[in-house]
Amino acid sequence: MRMTDLIAVKRDGGELTTEQIDFMIQAYTRGEIPDYQMSAMCMAILLRGMNDRETLDMTMSMMHSGEVMDLSRIKGLKADKHSTGGVGDKTSLVLCPMAAACGLKIAKMSGRGLGHTGGTLDKLESFPGFQVGISEERFFENVNKTGLAIIGQTADLVPADKKLYALRDVTGTVPSVPLIVSSIMSKKLASGADILVLDVKCGSGAFMKTVEEARELARGLTRIGRLAQRRCAAVITDMDQPLGWAVGNALEVKEALAVLRGEQEGDLLELCLTLGGLMLTEAGLAEDMAGAREQLLAAVREGRALKKLAELVEAQGGDSRAVYDPSLLPQAPVVLPVPAERAGTVSRIEAEKVGLVSMHLGGGRVDKESVIDLSVGVVLAKKLGDRVEPGESLAEIHAPSEEKAEEAAQLLRQCFSFSDTPVTRPAFIKDIVR
Ligand code: URA
Repeated sequence: MRMTDLIAVKRDGGELTTEQIDFMIQAYTRGEIPDYQMSAMCMAILLRGMNDRETLDMTMSMMHSGEVMDLSRIKGLKADKHSTGGVGDKTSLVLCPMAAACGLKIAKMSGRGLGHTGGTLDKLESFPGFQVGISEERFFENVNKTGLAIIGQTADLVPADKKLYALRDVTGTVPSVPLIVSSIMSKKLASGADILVLDVKCGSGAFMKTVEEARELARGLTRIGRLAQRRCAAVITDMDQPLGWAVGNALEVKEALAVLRGEQEGDLLELCLTLGGLMLTEAGLAEDMAGAREQLLAAVREGRALKKLAELVEAQGGDSRAVYDPSLLPQAPVVLPVPAERAGTVSRIEAEKVGLVSMHLGGGRVDKESVIDLSVGVVLAKKLGDRVEPGESLAEIHAPSEEKAEEAAQLLRQCFSFSDTPVTRPAFIKDIVR
């Protein structure tokens, strides 16, 4: 088989066979196909597309390029969640304990943040002593015992995607639905869960700018999940402003704790109830979304969800007292309110730029080796549609120094736009795709 022939097939709008796709993925992973040929192929796929059969073949071949987790040693139904990435996205910290408290098993592999979006692992490390690198043995043991464990992805999970994603990133070939689907689903399938729920973000702070684009991606992801024999559902959510109020690692943990204590309603809780509802109904643990919602809210009300998080932290070597006493989490030395300079209604908060403010404060990674400051970030005081008077606080900056706080305050003001007329808040949950 010659890669030049395969590129020509796709360039001319043809279909690649299962054998051709597997040859291309495995040979590229082994370094036998050069980057320039794979770039041409990715561009041909971006322009010509792939059908479901080709996308499934690509997903399965990528999944088998490395280690595939066998979760059969865990008793019960295993559920996992994936988000296409957003600013202030602390969903896993709330959803996973809630779902585990309702009887699901969560054996989750998470990533670290790079750039302006934080990763779940970094957030969990805000708990003093928390270990993300526990052995496979202990991982299984913990899930069987407490129902929940969250670790870093093993180095050998889908090596094909590590190479391919890095290549797509520098060749303008990221925004292709079949390539995104195979990239995400190969990793999720390799992680071994039976049930997979997906949060597809849509809006200015996301990959997919419109609901139509997000729906196309959500349908592609769920179709491939089902073709791969998994129970799979997706929710499309708004990313025209950060999720919740906090952006920054320990600050997001504090917000997640407030939701788990039942003290905060709003978009973050709604998202967790929706994703958790999809998990419980797909698992057959609830008859419908309303019943699932009741179970999840009861887990919060009765303190069982918060207790699950404490068990997770304890089982992975962390100080679980911080779950009940957030003052034990990292605290920034300087907290500076950002007063509004004019009156109006908030008409826009650029999510990506708020993420960059947190990064400027030291809360995000510039490259893989960066050491991040877990204590810093931004806590919004106003969101889309809120009325503001001059001098009222738009947000609080949590900074390592006065100087950094002043710089961040300037940058943060530029994230907000105001209108003199009322602004309707966009619907947060845009659609559910099953
Ligand atoms: N996230 C992934 O993991 N892969 C993509 O291709 C895009 C987003």
